[in-house]
Amino acid sequence: MNKYKENGAVFNCAVFEERLKELGVDIGVLSINVCKVTSSTNDDAELYAREKCDTPYALFVADEQTGGKGRLGRSFYSKEGGLYMSLLIKGPLPPAFALELTSLSGVALCQAIEHLSPLSPKIKWVNDVYLNGRKAAGILAKGRLAANNDEPRLEYAVVGIGVNVETTAFPSELKDSAISLCELTERPPSREMLCAEIISTLLSLLDKIGSVYIAEEYRKRSFLDGKRVRIIEGDTEYTATVLGITDKCELIVDKDGKTEILNSAEVTVRF
Ligand code: BTN
Repeated sequence: MNKYKENGAVFNCAVFEERLKELGVDIGVLSINVCKVTSSTNDDAELYAREKCDTPYALFVADEQTGGKGRLGRSFYSKEGGLYMSLLIKGPLPPAFALELTSLSGVALCQAIEHLSPLSPKIKWVNDVYLNGRKAAGILAKGRLAANNDEPRLEYAVVGIGVNVETTAFPSELKDSAISLCELTERPPSREMLCAEIISTLLSLLDKIGSVYIAEEYRKRSFLDGKRVRIIEGDTEYTATVLGITDKCELIVDKDGKTEILNSAEVTVRF
């Protein structure tokens, strides 16, 4: 992964590291890798996990991604101006960790934005962060099951976060649905400050995994509560009303008068 050695990135690693230290993060536990352009920081983190990760965590940040990945095989628009980061967490980890990591990261991202700006982000279940009814950030978490273990365990988990910080021009298909922090506040946080705040918040929330705190914080920011939504589960599509979020951050919906709990599905408010 020479691109991380050559660097040349606009993202200022020294400023970022300084801020991490100010926030009290022990940077000895984290390998920091920054580059100008890559295909996907999530892919880089996974490659690193399999090849040589020798710290509990490793962070990958790029100014730009040429193949940014979103959920359900979609792409994530990743031109310069956004923050594209992936955190690798070394295992062994319980299998449920990857799911919880998505909700936890949504909460961490919202708390970080709230801390650094006057904005009030919302979480659109399960992995999008919304501002003014539009998508400002996306989260993609993944885990790899370890082979040959009596008890199932994840070898590692990777959480990728993409935030539209200073993205000024979106392609036409995203113009109505995407938004950038710089459209809503005169002084958006720098990518370095935001990244440090996210990492510091995320690492401290990891201690709370499995506790109801994550769901409580998630509920406070839930974008879909009370909304009429379209739900897509494989080949099945239906309309439902969102009732809330469970203590495991699952979505509770009313479907034709019957309460259902979803732990994975595609939910859209645009139909
Ligand atoms: C989604 O919107 O469905 C999730 C988007 C996740 C995007 C981030 S950007 C950094 C990391 N690298 C990727 O290829 N994807 C994630």
